[in-house]
Amino acid sequence: MTLERILQSQGFGTRRYCGDLIAAGLVEVNGELCEDPRAQFEVDGLRLTVDGEEWLACTKAYLMLNKPAGYECSQRPRHHPSVYNLLPVPLRQREVQAVGRLDHDTTGLLLLTDDGQFIHAQTSPKRKVPKVYEVTTAEPVTPAQTGALRSGVQLLDEPAPIAAEACEITGERSLRLTLVQGKYHQVKRMVAAAGNHVDALHRSAIGGLQLDPALAEGEWRWLTAQELAVLSGKA
Ligand code: URA
Repeated sequence: MTLERILQSQGFGTRRYCGDLIAAGLVEVNGELCEDPRAQFEVDGLRLTVDGEEWLACTKAYLMLNKPAGYECSQRPRHHPSVYNLLPVPLRQREVQAVGRLDHDTTGLLLLTDDGQFIHAQTSPKRKVPKVYEVTTAEPVTPAQTGALRSGVQLLDEPAPIAAEACEITGERSLRLTLVQGKYHQVKRMVAAAGNHVDALHRSAIGGLQLDPALAEGEWRWLTAQELAVLSGKA
């Protein structure tokens, strides 16, 4: 692909604008200045420096974000800032989307991508991708409550009880819940139906992929090829 199209595909602006950046001597490719907008390169793995900003080019973007509390997973947030504000401009321009949403007060692992097929595969009810939540409760957790969550609780507007894939007590007021569905406020509603209340909620894993402990709240990083393989069930 030509360099100007590569820059455009990475979210740096229109093709003409990217061509101008290149011709102005503001773009390096794998550490070397390239002033020819039509120079040809393979996209994936290309190390770009665009007006001083280092960028690893990729045909599709896959990333994990450690979502802080107080952010909405919406492009048009209503009451809180958007998680998309935590991403650099090129990723916002590329229109990466959250793979399923977390509530504004939920923290932890959020995947984002501009690969529509990946979003579909990860969120399809048929795939039953397990998501692990660390729940802090208002009241002490009882074995009866975790038993109810494992055997199934009835939620309003659901035809049948919904059971957690796994549920264990992790502290006096905390439990770990693994769900394979992605229903609206599912953890909060299930814990309420079991007779307790969610005070804080953190997602620690999706489909075998753990939130990177090195990521501070609000930080993001690219997924590795190995992590993508884990998520796609190929590892
Ligand atoms: N379940 C909830 O109740 N909230 C979330 O953010 C995610 C799962």
